[in-house]
Amino acid sequence: MKRPKLIAGNWKMNTTVLEGLKTLDALLQGLSKQNPKVQVALAPPYTHLSDFQKKLKGSSICLAAQNVSDKLNGAYTGEVSVLMLKELGVRKVIIAHSERRQYYGETNDSALEKIKVVLKHEIYPIYCVGESLEDRESGHHFEVVEEQVTSVLYKLSEEKLPKITIAYEPVWAIGTGKTATPEQADEMHAFIRDVVGKRFGDDLGAQLQILYGGSVNAANAASLLAMPHIDGALVGGASLKPEEFLTIIQSAG
Ligand code: PGA
Repeated sequence: MKRPKLIAGNWKMNTTVLEGLKTLDALLQGLSKQNPKVQVALAPPYTHLSDFQKKLKGSSICLAAQNVSDKLNGAYTGEVSVLMLKELGVRKVIIAHSERRQYYGETNDSALEKIKVVLKHEIYPIYCVGESLEDRESGHHFEVVEEQVTSVLYKLSEEKLPKITIAYEPVWAIGTGKTATPEQADEMHAFIRDVVGKRFGDDLGAQLQILYGGSVNAANAASLLAMPHIDGALVGGASLKPEEFLTIIQSAG
């Protein structure tokens, strides 16, 4: 079956609003010439969302957020709720990125709570999984990813599955310039499909949209995106460079 491709840019904590708007302008200009056949999403910092929503009116780019609270409102200083994101036109949200897991104590359990909250409000989660270098070198990478997948997805009901995107991002490949080979990434994506298939049936496993992330750039995108189980990319550093991001988008089409 043919799964839709998605190229998502994760800007992390980069650019001020003014700088971000300039980058967005360049991207929109490039995209207007390119007519991409794949879905494109952008996750700028929270502070940019309101201005980006205005700029993206009439554009096919989907606005995404980098994180969300598992609570809807209340005394949670510094948190941002799904209701606030929804009002700003956000349609997807990255959940449990490895930087959130590593620096802010996020876990599979907190990811599950966040995924439940966003799905209730019709926002689509991009749930990040991926092993550390130590896990990979000790041969535990499949185990670790299996645990990240089962402890979250197995706790959801079947009809939620088609609304979820997984991003497989090996921690050792994020921001390091070291990419998983297309074969390594594809092998893990196929494994994730099997794990999901075991619980929900092979059809749902086969339908699951799985992105690869970790040092994707203009030079390596085409070979990664050509793999049968890779349905797109979650792009960090390279998504801040319009020319490079446009090349990645083109490689996916
Ligand atoms: P990178 O980041 O492309 O800069 O490695 C990817 C990510 O963290 O989503």
